[in-house]
Amino acid sequence: MNVLVVGGGGREHALAWRLAQSQRVARVYVAPGNAGTATEEGCYNVDVSGNEALLDFARREAISLTVVGPEAPLSGGLVDTFRAAGQRIFGPTRHCARLESSKEYAKDFMLRHAIPTAHHRSFSDADQADAYLRERGAPIVIKADGLAAGKGVVVAMTLDEAHDAVDRMLRQGGLGTAGARVVIEEFLEGEEASFIVLVDGRNVLALASSQDHKRLLDGDRGPNTGGMGAYSPAPVLTPALHARAMREVIAPAVAGMAAEGEPYTGFLYAGLMIQPDGQMKVLEFNCRLGDPETQPILLRLKSDLFTLLQHGVAGTLDRAEALWDRRVALGVVMAAEGYPDSPVRGARIHGIPVPAEDLHVFHAGTVQEGDAVLVQGGRVLCVTALGDTARLAQRRAYAAAQQIEFAGRQMRSDIGHRAVSARRIPL
Ligand SMILES: Nc1ncnc2c1ncn2[C@@H]1O[C@H](COP(=O)(O)OP(=O)(O)O)[C@@H](O)[C@H]1O
Ligand SMILES: [Mg+2]
Repeated sequence: MNVLVVGGGGREHALAWRLAQSQRVARVYVAPGNAGTATEEGCYNVDVSGNEALLDFARREAISLTVVGPEAPLSGGLVDTFRAAGQRIFGPTRHCARLESSKEYAKDFMLRHAIPTAHHRSFSDADQADAYLRERGAPIVIKADGLAAGKGVVVAMTLDEAHDAVDRMLRQGGLGTAGARVVIEEFLEGEEASFIVLVDGRNVLALASSQDHKRLLDGDRGPNTGGMGAYSPAPVLTPALHARAMREVIAPAVAGMAAEGEPYTGFLYAGLMIQPDGQMKVLEFNCRLGDPETQPILLRLKSDLFTLLQHGVAGTLDRAEALWDRRVALGVVMAAEGYPDSPVRGARIHGIPVPAEDLHVFHAGTVQEGDAVLVQGGRVLCVTALGDTARLAQRRAYAAAQQIEFAGRQMRSDIGHRAVSARRIPL
């Protein structure tokens, strides 16, 4: 059978790679893909985008299942278009994708269904927002309502920073329509974890837990990025907390969407804050897999991904089982010079190691030009390795990453520091 993966980042490379390993899959098309999917056995990049063009392609190539990586096509209604035409696709509808594409919608949804989350108020009026900030004080968190590619949240440690964020979003329109409304919410302390599940409208299958590092620099400092590395499992998510996440967050979310007449299908990602007192609160929902969390998660997946996705589309996830490698997987992101503000393209990449049983280099912002692989985007590669412990996975990933060279490359030296006691690997 042929499958289609929509997207071109590291997450999509990992999806395509795993799908291509299925005995039941002949060809994996990736739209648009990257230099990694271009050379992966069984994977074929196709330059197709837009709902109608993707639907035409899926029909023409007899695609039996499509899976969508990024949020933009989901909030653009790709799943709705495919469903209306009777094409099998795994992902949320445009309505369900609002759990990610509108933070205000997500917060109100959580309130309606008693899902634990930070207290909040929503504003489009800057003066009212400022007054609320003065009433609440700092630290406080300001979030653009709409999709802002990871640039829509300001965790303000002072009131000045908070007022600045309101100025930028509501008065100056710095984020366009995405920031025309803001959610202002209570600052939460604790440790973050990502909890991702497959949902078929009713049934849920949990993936292995993970944690990512959002900040550019060692010690979780510097500007926010799409993610500089991740690992699975997340030690903070003990079996007891895992059970609570299912019971207090995932189950009411899935039941709530169904009760509101819009059953949720697709990957559902809960960004959780585990507070020092053991309470668990939802920071956000994403309606897709995380990037880079997917890379370590899928490196650990032992079950057939195609079969799991088929259960997801057929509504039979209650009969599916996901088996995981007991080892820890850890992925180190290598980013372009100038990332995240103004990534420099065009550098030639050398020394990407060949895949091994315990190592895979997933591509993101890369492009193939003749024999060369060039930097094409901000996050370039995610070097992902398995090890019996977090420390061993970290060592293996960094040993491979250090062989890879390109001008201006950036990577952190401490990915996984929460999972291992040692804080630094000398680069
Ligand atoms: N209420 C909060 N308290 C403390 N930190 C927060 C809070 N909400 C978000 N953050 C921090 O900001 C980051 C981004 O927020 P999130 O809601 O995940 O938005 P997005 O991923 O869309 O940018 C989180 O990963 C977390 O580190
Ligand atoms: Mg987030």
